[in-house]
This record gives sequence, C-alpha cells and structure tokens, in this order.
Amino acid sequence: MAVLKLDISKSGVTLTPAMKSRASEALSLLYSKQGAGNDFLGWVHLPSSITAEEIARIEATAQHLRACAEVIVCIGIGGSYLGARAVAEAMSDSFAFLQGNKGPKVVFAGQNLSEDYTYELLDAVREKSLAAIVISKSGTTTEPAVAFRIIKAEIEKRYGKQGAAERIVAITDRARGALKTLATNEGYPTFVIPDDVGGRFSVLTPVGLLPLAAAGVDIASLVRGAQEMEKDTDESVPFDENLSAQYAAVRYALYESGKKIEILGSYEPKLQYINEWWKQLYGESEGKDGKGLFPASVTLTADLHSMGQYVQEGERTMFETILSVASSKHEVRIEPDAENLDGLNYLAGKRLSEVNRMAELGVQLAHVDGGVPNIRVEMPAIDEHSLGALLYFFEKACGISGYLLGVNPFNQPGVEAYKKNMFALLEKPGYEAESKAIKARLK
Ligand code: PA5
Repeated sequence: MAVLKLDISKSGVTLTPAMKSRASEALSLLYSKQGAGNDFLGWVHLPSSITAEEIARIEATAQHLRACAEVIVCIGIGGSYLGARAVAEAMSDSFAFLQGNKGPKVVFAGQNLSEDYTYELLDAVREKSLAAIVISKSGTTTEPAVAFRIIKAEIEKRYGKQGAAERIVAITDRARGALKTLATNEGYPTFVIPDDVGGRFSVLTPVGLLPLAAAGVDIASLVRGAQEMEKDTDESVPFDENLSAQYAAVRYALYESGKKIEILGSYEPKLQYINEWWKQLYGESEGKDGKGLFPASVTLTADLHSMGQYVQEGERTMFETILSVASSKHEVRIEPDAENLDGLNYLAGKRLSEVNRMAELGVQLAHVDGGVPNIRVEMPAIDEHSLGALLYFFEKACGISGYLLGVNPFNQPGVEAYKKNMFALLEKPGYEAESKAIKARLK
C-alpha cells in the first residue's frame, strides 16, 4: 500500500483522458530524458541508488561531529538549506529550546545576510563547542560564503587550523567552485553533490542527509520512504495509481481554469518548514516565462485567524493543498470541568487530534463552498519514513508539472538579476560599469 494518500475529490476537477495522457507523457519525459533541463534528472532514480555504504559514511561523519561539538552550524541557502531544515524541524520536539542538555544541536546560518542574526548566533555559541557543515553546490553563493568565512574564523580561533579540519565538513561540487578549492586546501572532509541533481532536488543527497543525521534523524528510514515513493510513482505505474502524476495533473487543470495561487497548508506547526521547502521547489521550478502557480502557505489553525478571511472571501484565484497527518505521536485529552465556565464540556474526553481533525474537515468544506478547491495529501504520521515519501512525491510531481506547463523546471535564470545588482552596489571587482550605472539610478 502507498505510504501517502491523495484525495482530489474536492478539487472540482474531472480529469479528462486527454489530461491524464498529457500528465503521463510529462512523466515519461523524466525517464526518457527528452525534456528541457535533461542534464538535471539525477534525482529521479536517486533514492534507489543510495547505497548502505553511503548512508554508513554519512552517519559516521555525523557521529564524529556530534561527538566533538555541542552545536553544529549548518551553512547553506535555498536548495542547500531548506530540505534539511524542513525535515529537522518536522522531527524535532517543538519545545526543544526549553529542554536542557539533550545532545548536540544543529542550527542554521548562511540563509540571510542579517548582522543581528549572525551576532546572536556567535553570542549563543560562545561557551559551546562548535563544528560546521558548509553546503554550496556552486561554491560561490554570497550568503553562505559570508557566513562560512565568519564561522570558519571562529572555529580556527578556538581550535587552530588542524582542529578546524576535524570539525568542518564541506558539501559541494566534485571539482569546481571556491568552496571545493578551499576544502581541498584546508583538508576538510567533503561530500559531493552530484552534477545532475539541482539544489532544490538535493535533499536526499548528503546536502540533506548529513545535517539530518547530525540532528539525530533516522536517515535510513527517510531514504526508505523515498525509495517506496520512487517505485509508486514510476513511469510504469498507471496514471490512476500514480499519485505524483495525479497531483500534477489536477493542479495544472486548476491553473488552466484560472487559479493562480496554490496554498499549501497543514494543521501541524512542525510542518511549517516543509511548506518553505515546497514553496522553493515549486516557485523556482515553475515561475518563469511569465507562467506558473504562485506557491503560498499557511499553518493552521493559526492562519485561520489571519489569512482565513481572505481565503474564504477574497479574490477567487486560489486553491488549497492540505498536508493532513493521520495520527499524532502523543495523546492529550480534554478533561471535564465541574464548573464548565468556558463552556467546553462538550469536548470532554476527546483527544486534541480529534478536535484538530474536525477543524480540518470543517475548514475544507467551508473553503470549497467559498470557491477554493481542495486537494488533500495524507501522511500516516510525522516520521522519517512518511517524510521521505512526501519529499519524493512532491519532487516527482514538480518535474511533471514543469513539463505540463512547458517550462524548464530545473533552471532558475531569474535568480541572477538580484545578484548582479548586489555585486554592483558592493563594488565587486568586474562590476565597475554596472556599479556606476546602478548608483546613478539610486540617487
Ligand atoms: O535550487 C537551487 O538550485 C537554488 O536554490 C540553490 O540551491 C541555491 O541558490 C544555493 O546554491 P548553491 O548550493 O550553489 O550555494
């Protein structure tokens, strides 16, 4: 039985045979490698190609880092950050920050240029032993490079160059880029990001697996979940059983019918960073050539008291995809109260998960009635196995979606525009002409 369930019965879409065969053809392109961006399809067979030896090497490196540091700073941005953060947050205790010494902590840097964030990170780790994982496929991205320069200096100040080489691991291209050169010169252990796997499809490479193993996540189980989903969404699986093809087809049909925004929502706050990972995956893959659904997200029920009004009655240009979790890890029941001043005795004896479920079902129907079609993706629980399946499910659907839309889902040319302006403003060598021009515009 498939790990995930997909319910499209409230999407308002009836998939025509033509639409089904278009989605199946788009899926086949991922296997025949005849579509755009075909040199970035390494993620398609990635789960099944991960060997026990690779997992063992990643786990051994993670154990080493955990043994020598109370805090492991994981440095990266975009696809070199969000997957690890998403699974780490989903698997962590929501109140870990209040709990004393429960083993090494993984924290994240390099995904912003905030001075205060960086100062506060350095301040927080002043009394703690330190290690770092630095991740950049290109090896030249400014945000992680700046953060790494600062963290590297801190580690070297404390442990010397030799000590730093025992506490820093680099994950980058096999041969190119400043990070590769630096890692080779400094003697850091390295892991390779395969050439044919782009950043936002790299969570199941060492990019995601090493930080997650360092955070204590069971990466073998994560990979097993992804392997199952790889099989379940293979091109040989007929459309009516292929969840990724179905999800891609329905969201594309909704886009064609005039919906411009897809909101991913969940009733579990731990999945908030899964939303962020998903937004990057779909936003960078589809948003080009003047096309693409805008990926937005909500965390419920919190956002029913902020975005809920708009979703119910605002512009009718959106649909929702709800990540539903079938069972909670823990049990909390609502107790009866003799005075019943809050009027909640009608809930006495019920588990909180039941109340949450009724909220979810009630909201689903209210939004559908309000003109917001609904897709539901159900995972059995928040555990490594389900998360692995979920990540691969979305990746596969994203590849299919991009091809349905007629874009290259595996490039991100639009990301360069801001970099050019920033380098010109910072007077990076080579940007002299741009520098003059941009400064004139800012006067
Ligand atoms: O999906 C992508 O390719 C991007 O989001 C990259 O992951 C991001 O720009 C970071 O790039 P790099 O790993 O080269 O530092």
